[in-house]
Parts: sequence; structure tokens; C-alpha cells
Amino acid sequence: MKKYNVAIVGATGMVGRKFLQVLEERQLPVNNYYLFASARSAGKKVSFMDKEYTIEELTETCFDGKDIDIALFSAGGGTSKKFAPFAVKAGALVIDNSSAWRMDKDVPLVVPEVNPQDIKWHSGIIANPNCSTIQAVVALKPLYDKYGIKRVIYSTYQAVSGAGMSGYSDLENGISGDAPKKFPYPIFGNCLPQIDVFDEDGYTKEELKMIQETQKILGDDNLRITATTVRVPVFHGHSESINVELKNEYDLVELRQALSDFPGLIVKDEVKLGESTGIYPMPIDIAGEDEVYVGRIRRDRSVENGVNLWVVADNIRKGAATNTVQIAQTWIAMQEK
Ligand code: A2P
Repeated sequence: MKKYNVAIVGATGMVGRKFLQVLEERQLPVNNYYLFASARSAGKKVSFMDKEYTIEELTETCFDGKDIDIALFSAGGGTSKKFAPFAVKAGALVIDNSSAWRMDKDVPLVVPEVNPQDIKWHSGIIANPNCSTIQAVVALKPLYDKYGIKRVIYSTYQAVSGAGMSGYSDLENGISGDAPKKFPYPIFGNCLPQIDVFDEDGYTKEELKMIQETQKILGDDNLRITATTVRVPVFHGHSESINVELKNEYDLVELRQALSDFPGLIVKDEVKLGESTGIYPMPIDIAGEDEVYVGRIRRDRSVENGVNLWVVADNIRKGAATNTVQIAQTWIAMQEK
């Protein structure tokens, strides 16, 4: 089996570090790793897989002469937009975790459990979807295939780690009363109904990402979707209330079965009439897990064929690093065929 050279761009960041951990766990057939970050981190040493690596500065020429096969990027949209083409020119497949390339018509947007076939038509870059979109489409795909979907309403409860190291620090330091640096308002003891900037209709960019990326991944531009995305004082794990209007009638037992049969999706849903405690996924329990969890599965009687889901996943793992590494693994498996 061929061994691959892998670059990690943004190796000192929240997601970049998780890349290293997930790569170590999954034991990809790797020959050599190259770690890149900004000039601020160049020269820093990182221990990884029983070896010491030195962080190199990301530059236009840093990929040249290294025979890099795969470059995993997580260093922000601007950095990806500028530097991914240099990695491609040097012969690498870029798998990018930023929003820079996601809606580019020549760039596949992939969740391996949902649309692995899209990996095949890449022309140098494959995009990793937004964290909140990834976990949502894993839960929606089996319903889309079995019943068809007419309309989706997303309401999210997103962890601060989704905003990188600085978002994480705002919650940590906010507990002792420090003013926020990343968020526009305090996040400790608060909920912020704003993730990213607003558009002319008053939607945030995060909400538009969820709408457009879901349509692209499911390959259905006519799918009607609305979203409200909220940052909450949780360190790890995004939660989502997803209201779905299906095209066709469904039986609740069969629908649950379709969810539990889907790869990468775990049904955690035990509630009993009148009992004060139920079993459902919570961010505190799923931190560190690679799967998407779904619970509170119940019929929405306010519309025809409606169903409510509560979907939780580790946003830095399945929402970012794990999904990116899974794309790399799937691509490697395709090369070996
Ligand atoms: P550095 O640590 O050197 O600033 P996070 O999202 O957790 O804040 O992480 C962002 C990651 O992207 C870090 O590894 C950071 O490196 C890297 N990064 C940010 N801007 C650049 C840039 N202009 N060139 C290279 N790496 C960058």
C-alpha cells in the first residue's frame, strides 16, 4: 500500500491540533507529516506520533519540493483562499475546513456518510462543510432518502469552541468577569443569537451556510430551509433542534429504524410517559465522540408528515477534524481500488 505525505495547515489551532489527534487514532498510511502555521508559530516544536515536528511558516512556496499528497487546511477562510491554490499547484489534494471554497461549483462539499461519491469530481480542492451543517445532514440523509424532505427548520445551540481558541477563551475568562474579545457580548451566562456577520435580510452568515450547504450536500437546490443559529455557553458540542416536514407519510418506528441504521448516527432516545428524567444526547456526554447523536424523536402534529429531532455532535471532531480526516481516508481508499 502506498504511503502518503500529509501537510497540516493551521497545526497550532483548535481544529489543527484535533487533526493531529484524529490522525494518530486512525493510523492513516502516512509516510511523513509537515506542519504549517503563521510566522508567529514558526520554529515551535510539536510532539506527534513519537516524533518531534517543527512548525514551518505557511508561505506561497512552502509546499514546493515536499511531494505532499494531501494538505488538510484549517487556518481561516482568507488563508485558505490565498494558499490552497499553491498547495494544489505543488501537487497536493487540499481538504479545506474553512468556508472559502465550499460554495464554489468546482469544489465538492463532502460528508463521507452522506455524499462520498462527490469526492471523485474534485479538481484539487475538497471542502469540509460547516460544523453545524455536518451533523444536521447526517441526521437528515436517511429521512431524505426514505421519505423525501419538503422543508427544514434549524435552531442551533453552538459551543464556543466553534469560534476557535479565542472563542473558547471568552467563555473561560468570562466566568471570572473578563470582557469578551472574540464575541460582541459576554457569552458566560448568556446566549448570542448571532454567529458571524448579518446579510441584507437579517440572516447571519452561519444561518446562510447551513441553508446553502445542506442544499449542496443533499444535491437539492429546491429544498426549503430556514435557520436560527445561536452561540451558547458550552465549551464542546453543538446541539440542534431540527424540525422536518417530510414529503411522504411515515411510521415512527420505521423512521427511528432508518435513523439507527445510518452509518455514523446513533439514536439515543428513551423517554417514558410521566417520568422526570429521559435519555437523550447532551453536549456534556458526547464531547470526544466521532458520531452524531439523535434523540427526542417525535411527531410534529402541527404539519402533515412532520417530525422533530434533537441532534448533538462534537463540533471539533465530527464537525471539523474527524470529517476532514474521513474525507482523506475515503479518498485514499478510492486511490487503492
Ligand atoms: P498561529 O497559531 O501561528 O496563529 P484557531 O482557529 O484555533 O484560532 O486557529 C487558527 C490556526 O490558523 C492557527 O494554527 C494559526 O496559526 C493559523 N493561522 C491563522 N492565520 C494564519 C496565516 N495568515 N498564515 C498561516 N497560519 C495562520
